[in-house]
Parts: sequence; structure tokens; C-alpha cells
Amino acid sequence: MSQHSADPAPNTALATVAAHRDWWREAVIYQVYPRSFADGNGDGMGDLEGVRSRLPYLRDLGVDAVWLSPFYASPQADAGYDVADYRAVDPMFGNLLDADALIRDAHGLGLRIIVDLVPNHSSDQYEWFRRALAEGPGSPLRERYHFRPGKGENGELPPNDWESVFGGPAWTRVTEPDGTPGEWYLHLFAPEQPDFNWDHPAVGDEFRSILRFWLDMGVDGFRIDVAHGLVKAEGLPDLGTHDQLKLLGNDVMPFFDQDGVHAIYRQWRTILDEYAGERIFVAEAWTPTVERTANYVRPDELHQAFNFQYLSTDWDAAELRAVIERTLEAMRPVGAPATWVLSNHDVTRHATRFANPPGLGTQIRTAGDRELGLRRARAATLLMLALPGSAYIYQGEELGLPDVVDLPDEVRQDPAYFRGAGQDGFRDGCRVPIPWTRSGSSYGFGTGGSWLPQPAGWGDLSVEAQQGVAGSTLELYRSALAARREQPGLGAGDSVEWLRAPEGVLAFRRGGFVCVANTSGESVALPAYGRVLLASAEVTEADGEAKVPADTTVWWTVD
Ligand code: NOJ
Repeated sequence: MSQHSADPAPNTALATVAAHRDWWREAVIYQVYPRSFADGNGDGMGDLEGVRSRLPYLRDLGVDAVWLSPFYASPQADAGYDVADYRAVDPMFGNLLDADALIRDAHGLGLRIIVDLVPNHSSDQYEWFRRALAEGPGSPLRERYHFRPGKGENGELPPNDWESVFGGPAWTRVTEPDGTPGEWYLHLFAPEQPDFNWDHPAVGDEFRSILRFWLDMGVDGFRIDVAHGLVKAEGLPDLGTHDQLKLLGNDVMPFFDQDGVHAIYRQWRTILDEYAGERIFVAEAWTPTVERTANYVRPDELHQAFNFQYLSTDWDAAELRAVIERTLEAMRPVGAPATWVLSNHDVTRHATRFANPPGLGTQIRTAGDRELGLRRARAATLLMLALPGSAYIYQGEELGLPDVVDLPDEVRQDPAYFRGAGQDGFRDGCRVPIPWTRSGSSYGFGTGGSWLPQPAGWGDLSVEAQQGVAGSTLELYRSALAARREQPGLGAGDSVEWLRAPEGVLAFRRGGFVCVANTSGESVALPAYGRVLLASAEVTEADGEAKVPADTTVWWTVD
């Protein structure tokens, strides 16, 4: 263990969370981005102690589990997705005793903890990679990564034409120990994130051991970063196009969604199943279609996969209906729950996506119409929480936070921003520390400022400003999550019964429950289905008819 590590006793405080079988099938899972959630030690950076202090807030919000983005020892070239020690907590976030305390406290409150696992690449400061460089060509450690001689007369050209997701070539040439330019290594992301060679047995051994380390610590599951990237096509063939960024997510690539990844997950599943308490895997797998995503959640593989097709869908009834149907159909044969997600730490927050015209994708750099965006975001959330399956919430969306689109360039930290033509690059806007109080240092985030500047007016969106205020976004989320717990029809199952509805409106029934989402810009008159359980904006009813305003979702209970 490294100097950052402590050696806590195994965490056994599972009693309060283990009771509910198949809990994950309809779970609401809250993503904490540790840098930006709460700062316990006043250094301007969020940390595990901060998260622990806010667990009661998450319990009261009504979520089932918390997924933490990486907090491992890391030089932070990609905000912790470049891991230098998978078994240690980075000192900026705390230490292993803090992780242990966090897991225990969460369990005591009935919350499960899911940690991020980053198996596609390590940090360039990971011991294997440092030694691979220091030992020079022929080092056996180079076989654990993808080192290759360059093309061209003097090896001055990259070994193939692959491009990094963050922009620029996916290869970097090293300077050998004797000072000469030497081999190249593959990195699908930043140069500080060399890709592992998963054909090498030591890589698999290492990750099986890392899994056990965190399972023994008591975590309830893993979110697998770049789950679709571990296996590369044999021979690392050229792609033959320089328009690769557009292809991402639309096509099978020689470096993404290769069939070979599934054997890895089958092995991992047997490890997980050795542990009590229904622990789970969720895949971050950007695949071309929901049908290919379903391959990751076959019964002997992972439990869930993020539904990025849903996250990429505009606020449009016909498009939403199509992706909902297709998702449910794709998941049914493999018996996995559908998942739904609207925001995360890599995309523009949905309050800002929906404030802009459709068709702009998930990286938007304009504020748009903020009022409209918030109205639609609230409606979109109620729709998401009425669908069968599991839903993911990204910290701060329950406050209706918009993306911070006007961060000055000099404070940006996203590595993709510095690599120019990346498809990402503007992810700092959704990573600004969240406001807890109306005023005070960093709006209650901590006592020592905030690693990214918070915009003026942030305090008006704070937990303090919204708590107990009827109609606030926070109270809407709380009511929705409470209803989900109380009404078995919400969340469970694998189908919806569509009801006739005017253009621009989605209406479906699930057991004793009807959900209507009006995505059109006009209010619509519909039969009042029963008793209004919850609505994202005010609905009026008269003579058996309900008037559902523009961009509004309503839940009804019916007999
Ligand atoms: C996906 C993560 O969500 C993102 O933040 C990261 O930059 C890449 N994977 C690379 O690890």
C-alpha cells in the first residue's frame, strides 16, 4: 500500500441496506463528483469528509445509492480519471480511513456506495508505466500497454491513424532513457492516460485484485469507465478516416465496443457474485445502439449500462417515445433493467441543453433561455422518474443548476479543452461546485473558496434557498423520489402502456398510474385521468378535463 493508504478493518455494516432484493433494478442512483460536492477541510476542493457530512441530505432526498467519481491517488490530468494508485485515496480527497467511514455511514443511513473503476487506462504515473518508460524498449512492462515503433523512415509517424477522444493523435512518442526519440504508446484519451493492453494476463490479474480490494472495503458496486474500450481490434488496424470524432457512438470502432470485452465482464461477474449483498456493475459504454448496449447487461455480465441514447435525445415527444420503446425492447430479452440519465459530469447539464434549440448535441456553450430550460428540465425529470428501470441523477440537477457557460478560459481544467478539436472540452461548466447556502464562502461548499469560480446568483439556487419551499426544484425531486418509494408501479417492471395523446405529448399508463409529458410549446387539454400526484408546473382541472401547460409533466394515480 502507498503512503496515502491506511488499513481499516473490512466494512461489514451492510445490515441496513441488504434487505431489498433486486434493489438495483429500480434504484435511483445519485452521482457525486467529489471535487465539487462539499469541501470538508477548507482547501477549496471537495473531499470524502465533505461527502460524508452531506450523506443525511442524500438520504432525505430519497435516493437509493451514491456513485462517486474517482477519488484515487492521481496527478489529476483528467480530474482523477488518470489513476496512479487504484488502492489509495488521493490526499486531496482524504485517505482510506475516510473512505471506510463514508461507506459505513452511508450503510447506516440505508444508502449504497458505488465507486468508479478505470480499467481502460492508467495514469502515466502508474508504477508499471513509469517503469516501462525507464526500462526502455524491450521492457516486459511495455507489453502491459500498447507500445509500437512509429511508421516512416525514422519512426517519426504514429503507428496508426487513430485519434484521441480529446482531440489530436491517439499516440505519443516517448524519449528513450538514452535521450533519443523512441517508441510510441497508445492513449485514447489524454497522453497522461496510456491504454492498458488487456491481452496481457497481468492486467486482468491486477484488476481482479483491485475489484476484491474495494469489495472487501464494503462498496456495493462499480461504475466501469470506458467499459467499451478495453479490447482493441487485433493488429490495431487503421480506421481510414480522419473524421473519427463524429463517428464515436455511431459505429463500431477498432478501439470501441469490440466483442472481446464481454469475456472480461463474465469473469468479473463471478467475482462480484461471491460477495453477499447484491453488489452491482454499471457500464459506461458508448455504443452505436441500445441493442449493442444490451450485450453488456446479459445475465452473466454487468447489471446496468448507462443509456446515452436517452441522454442525447432532445425534448421532443416523438423522439423520446422512440428511444423509450427501443430501450425497453432491447433490454427485455436480456432481462436487464433499462436505465435513464439526463446529466453527468461529461455533458452539458440538461437545464441548459433544453434551454437551447434542439440538435446541438450534449456539449453546448450557450446559456439559451434559462427559464424555459429549467421548466423543461423539471418536466424531463418527472418523465424520467416515471419510466420503468433505474435512474441516475447528477449532483446539483435537483437544484435545477444550469451549466456555467461563461467560465473564463484561464480557469478551465478540462484536458480536452487544451487539446483543441475534442468533442468534449467544455466539461468544466457542469463541474462547478454546488451551492448549499444562500451566501457565505463558496455558498456553503466549504470555507476555503472553490476550485472553479461559482457564478453570481448561485446562492439563489442553493439547498438553503429551496429547502421547504413549495414548488422549488429541490422539493419537486424530493416529492418525486418519495412517490417512487411509495408507489410500487413507479420504477418497477419493463413496459409502459401508451395512451392516445395529441402531437407533442407523451402519455402512458403503468398499473395504477398515468404519466403525461407535454413537450409542445402549447398547453393541451386532456381527460383528467384521476388524482394528480405530482406535476412539474401547475395543472388546472375542470369538468373532468385537465389543462396541461407547455413543457410540463404530470403524474396521476388512477383507480
Ligand atoms: C469517461 C469519464 O466519464 C470522463 O470524465 C473521462 O474523461 C473519460 N472516461 C476518460 O477516463
